[in-house]
Amino acid sequence: MSRLSSLAIPAAILGLAGMALADSHVSDEVAGAVNIRQSHMSLYGFNLGPLAGMARGRMDYDAEIAGAAAANLAALAAMDQAGYWVEGSSNDDLEESEALAAIWDDPTGFEERMMALQLASADLAAVAGNGLTELQAGMGPVGQSCGGCHEDYRISDN
Ligand code: HEC
Repeated sequence: MSRLSSLAIPAAILGLAGMALADSHVSDEVAGAVNIRQSHMSLYGFNLGPLAGMARGRMDYDAEIAGAAAANLAALAAMDQAGYWVEGSSNDDLEESEALAAIWDDPTGFEERMMALQLASADLAAVAGNGLTELQAGMGPVGQSCGGCHEDYRISDN
């Protein structure tokens, strides 16, 4: 703790109010973990983009693009993420995170949400290249997996 409390002094001298001071107890490691998991989420979003575009008719269906995006999504969902969902990294601890402390109060529920996406994205990857109707059917459970977890474990539930 001594190293951390000594950080508060230069922060105060620099006049870094609010966020910087509130975050001064958070280690670089924890802040880095938040960054990495947000990047993982961005990759989910990036790959979901064309799939949702096609499913909603905003983009022409392309079997190759759909298959590749769905395979990426399934691979991402299957990755072990334990290293960056570290305790003490919720929005209670640092403003940059939108993760609710409920993740660590209810780890089983959170893991179930992860597993739901893993299964739904694997199902989607198996059919996404087979046609628009198959893609649309597979997208429902994937969207619900993203949204369901956000509803319970993320501040803004979108
Ligand atoms: C197991 C729970 C869970 C699942 C499943 C999940 N998310 Fe998230 N997502 C979160 C949490 C928690 C955060 C907030 C992380 C943080 O800010 O520390 C988040 C944040 C995000 C963000 C914002 C990232 C940023 O830069 O701040 C995006 C985009 C996102 N999720 C997209 C998705 C998409 C798309 C899916 C489905 C393919 C998905 N998520 C599935 C829990 C989940």
